[in-house]
Amino acid sequence: PPMENLLNLDEIEEVATQQISKKAWAYYYSASDDLISKSANNLAYKKILLRPRVFIDCTRCDISTSLLGYKVGLPLYVSPAAQARLGHPTGEHGIAQGISTFNALQIISNSASMTPEQIVEGSSPGQVFGWQLYVQNERRKSGQMLARINKISDKVKFVCLTLDAPVPGKREHDERNQEVGPPVTSANMSGEANNRRKAGGVGLQLFQGTAADLTWKTTLPWLAKHTSLPVVLKGIQTHEDAYLAAQHAPQVKAIILSNHGGRAADTAPPAVYTLLEIRKYCPEVFDKVEVWVDGGIKRGTDIVKALCLGAKAVGVGRAALFGLGAGGPEGVKRTFEILKAEMETCMRLLGVETISELGPQYINSRAAERD
Ligand code: FNR
Repeated sequence: PPMENLLNLDEIEEVATQQISKKAWAYYYSASDDLISKSANNLAYKKILLRPRVFIDCTRCDISTSLLGYKVGLPLYVSPAAQARLGHPTGEHGIAQGISTFNALQIISNSASMTPEQIVEGSSPGQVFGWQLYVQNERRKSGQMLARINKISDKVKFVCLTLDAPVPGKREHDERNQEVGPPVTSANMSGEANNRRKAGGVGLQLFQGTAADLTWKTTLPWLAKHTSLPVVLKGIQTHEDAYLAAQHAPQVKAIILSNHGGRAADTAPPAVYTLLEIRKYCPEVFDKVEVWVDGGIKRGTDIVKALCLGAKAVGVGRAALFGLGAGGPEGVKRTFEILKAEMETCMRLLGVETISELGPQYINSRAAERD
């Protein structure tokens, strides 16, 4: 269908589900165990209510902001998600093309189906990327990848180190899939694992060789030896770890509150709860590092609520993959267009003109705080 006929992210996901292979769907849709965290991610936003102010001129609305000091068109970014080519031949490059007119940020997965060099090629001038790292048991391999990233640091401005999945979660939809489907390719995997046509367990296949022995003490100094790019720590799920991460500023410039889209520890908290914890126990974290969140974003109001609680940016994982699956780069563009318009409508209805005005006074989060 023409992309403009699709009015919300659920409709886009529905179209993508019809179009992509069963294998791609199972891999994208899946989450750990009983999918409790995955559904809680979205529900958490629904529990927060808005407190719109009225009688305020809302003709103007500017949702541009800056992330890590770089100007972006909106506080919405693409989370690192593996294997975009499973869903559409244009892959992660297609996602980059789809968001280029928004000047939005994109984090490239360590397990992307294309090389980072291919993905950033032809991006628009100001378009900012990050590269997500899964440190490999063979540290030499990760060192080599970082050397490649350093060479494209005109485009790739930071390294995003994912911490919440030292081992993959148990994703039964993915494991159960019997359709062989398109091959999995990754710059990250060794020769014989690469490109092998295989049915279920894409996640398990991709995690082979990933290190489970990362620590606060050893890994950040190791990383500093291989790159001078700033570090974003992804997968923080408690105020204790947010506090520890902030101690590592300025090497660490941002943290991403995330439960990996419910794909790591099932029943781990949605980012909203971790945001509430940080506000309560260590609000100084917000002054030391930027706090980004992801998981369960379906509506512009979800984004606005996260920003009201102190998030500087909000990421989408599946929404970008499903957008691509539904309509290639045009589908990703439509996904961003919808979220952007919904965000602007929400801000106008709140009586807010700019991102910096958003704060806790515009929401009622009591129901979420009681959980
Ligand atoms: C992911 N995610 C992820 N994270 C990461 O750091 N490296 C990765 O390679 C991947 N791969 C990946 C694949 C797929 C198919 C999904 C759905 C997710 C997690 C991702 O960055 C993000 O945390 C979640 O996707 C956010 O939740 P939503 O937006 O999908 O609800």
